[in-house]
Amino acid sequence: MTRLFINPNHRLGHINPELQGHFSEHLGRCIYGGLFVGEDSDIPNVNGMRCDVVEALKEMKIPVLRWPGGCFADEYHWKDGIGKKEERKTIVNTHWGGVVENNCFGTHEFMELCRQLGCKPYVNGNLGSGTVREMSEWVEYMTFDGISPMADLRKENGHEKPWKLDYFAVGNENWGCGGNMLPEYYGNLYRRYSTYVRNYSKDYSIYKIACGPNAGDFDWTDKVMKTCFEKCGPNHGFMDGLSLHYYTVPGPWDHKGSATDFDEASYYVTLKKTLYMEELITGHTAIMDKYDKKHEVGLIVDEWGNWFDVEPGTNPGFLYQQNSIRDALVAGINLNIFNKHCDRVKMANIAQLVNVLQSVILTDGPRMVKTPTYHVFNMYKYHQDAELVESYVETELVGIDEENKVPNLTESVSLDKDGYINITLTNLSADKSYDINGVLVETCVDSVSAKILSGKINDHNTFDDPDKVVAKDFTNVSLKNGNLEFTIPAASVMLLRVHTK
Ligand code: AHR
Repeated sequence: MTRLFINPNHRLGHINPELQGHFSEHLGRCIYGGLFVGEDSDIPNVNGMRCDVVEALKEMKIPVLRWPGGCFADEYHWKDGIGKKEERKTIVNTHWGGVVENNCFGTHEFMELCRQLGCKPYVNGNLGSGTVREMSEWVEYMTFDGISPMADLRKENGHEKPWKLDYFAVGNENWGCGGNMLPEYYGNLYRRYSTYVRNYSKDYSIYKIACGPNAGDFDWTDKVMKTCFEKCGPNHGFMDGLSLHYYTVPGPWDHKGSATDFDEASYYVTLKKTLYMEELITGHTAIMDKYDKKHEVGLIVDEWGNWFDVEPGTNPGFLYQQNSIRDALVAGINLNIFNKHCDRVKMANIAQLVNVLQSVILTDGPRMVKTPTYHVFNMYKYHQDAELVESYVETELVGIDEENKVPNLTESVSLDKDGYINITLTNLSADKSYDINGVLVETCVDSVSAKILSGKINDHNTFDDPDKVVAKDFTNVSLKNGNLEFTIPAASVMLLRVHTK
């Protein structure tokens, strides 16, 4: 028996709902076709937003959505995307396939989408190719409730009241597609641009996010933090958050590997690379601690997920990939890691919401399918706004090649406002199940319900077989001397909800 230890009385921090956030870029069929079809479409929509997709995302409790990029953000000029649709500028999307972008989806549409989803907006500003004035005016346009050139323009465009802008990032990947900058240079620009991201509302402050590192680039974190914290007074580096981007890419960049046609060795490589997230968070946090001694700056993992070769026959610039049980494991592992680091990780956004990279939803014309990753988010939603509690699971190493062995199990546990203890577990072994003995310290278990997502590692949903991989009720949990006993199947993600007396 494998021992799972839980101490619900030892609370370790608050799990922000935003740890289960999402990202949508003007890339491939994420926005156009995936989320937005326009009011004249035959596909059922409200103000142009697909009803089927909105409904599915609401069920999953999407907490926050980042937009408009990604690399696209540092070439996006927001004034191109406001006003009468037929008069909006047509531009080239240079990053993603060189396709025509007619700016039909802009600020008003994004805010409308967030309204329908009931989620917080996270807008990514353009520092790479935009001016300070442009960024400053965008914030004024979105948030100022008074008489001013930008507030007046918003009203002329049909939106009388300002929107609530929860999160704003000052540039994206400015070490790469966002301007190929060096960290000190970016740090100085960040100080300048962010000064003019004004808080117009008395009721809240915009959470400002600086561009953080690419994966293991600890030097970037160090230098940006140093630059921003120098002579910053009480302003904790002029930032509320620092971003981190890390994708799981199983193979070399020119041969990343197929999303569905992979063997067990590649499965374990993918999981091993995913677990690197733990090291990244710990490493970057240690550097942040040097400057941000009071832990006021959040680590914002605003791009993560699997990046495979595109589906055969699709546009290489559109990054459209399938999603299998392996993706479910990658999602479950990462979300458990984020929970366990909820003291520092304040938001995380999987890339990307629909039809791009590790999506929760795929669409094909009017058809829609929920991916295995969707079902994981739908199971993990009970952690949102809950308190992380102490937990530990015994592990052994599994895998094929010595250098790519991984622990067989990961877990995280929270206590929510309704008094439920939510346990999420992943079994990384491709072929071995484990008998689990769950010990809940000083807890009288009243009842338990569970869900399971499992299958063969390559299993995935298609438009013709959309429910091959879904979360199912799991009833084989018994209570013995107050302990939980169950068997977790191979290659699975599990949720247990325990109610106490
Ligand atoms: O998500 C795809 C791209 O990956 C984003 O545009 C960019 O920020 C990252 O490199």
